[in-house]
Amino acid sequence: MTTRRGFLRYLAGTPLLAGAGLSPRPFRESMRNRLDVELFTELAQFVSEQGRVIYTPDHAVNVFDFEATARTNVPHSHFTYMATGVDGEATLRANREAIARVQLRARHLVDVSEIDMSTEIFGRRWETPIVIQPCGSQKAFHPEGEVAVARAARTRGHLQTLSTVTTTSVEEVNEARGEPVWYQLYPTDKWAVTEAILRRVEAAGCPVVMLTVDHPVGGNRETSVRGSRDDPRDCSLCHLPRSEGFAASVRRKPMFDGLDLKGVRSLNNASATWEFVDRIKDTIGMRLVVKGIVTREDAELCVEHGVDGIVVSNHGGRNEPTARGTIESLPEVVDAVSGRALVIVDGGFRRGADMLRALALGADAVGIGRPYLWGLGAFGEAGVDAVLQMLSSELLRSMQLIGAPSLKVLNRAFVAGR
Ligand code: GLV
Repeated sequence: MTTRRGFLRYLAGTPLLAGAGLSPRPFRESMRNRLDVELFTELAQFVSEQGRVIYTPDHAVNVFDFEATARTNVPHSHFTYMATGVDGEATLRANREAIARVQLRARHLVDVSEIDMSTEIFGRRWETPIVIQPCGSQKAFHPEGEVAVARAARTRGHLQTLSTVTTTSVEEVNEARGEPVWYQLYPTDKWAVTEAILRRVEAAGCPVVMLTVDHPVGGNRETSVRGSRDDPRDCSLCHLPRSEGFAASVRRKPMFDGLDLKGVRSLNNASATWEFVDRIKDTIGMRLVVKGIVTREDAELCVEHGVDGIVVSNHGGRNEPTARGTIESLPEVVDAVSGRALVIVDGGFRRGADMLRALALGADAVGIGRPYLWGLGAFGEAGVDAVLQMLSSELLRSMQLIGAPSLKVLNRAFVAGR
């Protein structure tokens, strides 16, 4: 697969295609009959995912155009920190490739003049099942960072989860969002710190804590390592590297303000087991969602331990070296949970039609990470707003095109292939 991707990259850069300007029509005309159908289809997908630099949000044709634009605006080391996968990017690619393998079965002569995309999550109605997943350090992509995202989420009515390594405090984000967001927890390896953070977010009104469990240690992020080496700027003006010790590396992260970080070595707790989940549950009155579950065994344990929700996630392909797409894990998790907990999925969802596949396979909601960061890096709040608007209207149109007037009617009968 790696060789194939490399070959596609090579083909896309050959004079043959460069002459066609990589625009879909001339591209098709120049390539038709020259490649076998499968390779042609893959190459067409690859080319459409390259994106074009755009100068206003309304010029975007798909979310990859925001990526191309953010790449030109955002400092190289920050962009590669966002873009990175692990170990040659196998898991990162697997997320996209697995979605592409799921086919939809379209039903017709169904009244799709009105579409209801609304969904209920923990008793609260949302206009769409598209949720904003936690991503750290958003001021690395735009000076307004998490506040810009919160404002767009408010305008478009999306659920937002804030990362522990946010560059804006939870209180300020809640204010910009107009209601408390969900909070993603990296517990650190010191319980007093875990507890203090939990108390703070509970006091801020956050209704849900999302505990990340797929990050006991950091993955081998080669693209990020190379990206910071290749960036000539003096990063220490803004943040200190991890090599300076934990306390130094999070000194400017507002969720650690005022905490005694003596003895803390990591954002994560590599010794955490299911008892740790119980301990968190016993400490908080908020609901608990566990993020990073990719197997039926762990999904069953979540239910046994009274977890309220699960995020089927591999951290955007940036931690586990599994080379398994999250949409491949989704059915086994949905089956194991069997309606006893909320199921959100994230990992590689870049189009409304991608999301539709996961919803038909049983996800209650679909999360996005990089696409809204691309919007943020490209145009700040206006870019995030445009990405949210684009994905929502793509999902709506895709539902119309497969004859699904509401999320309630979606089920596995709409899916074929794998
Ligand atoms: C943090 O969660 C990261 O993936 O960098």
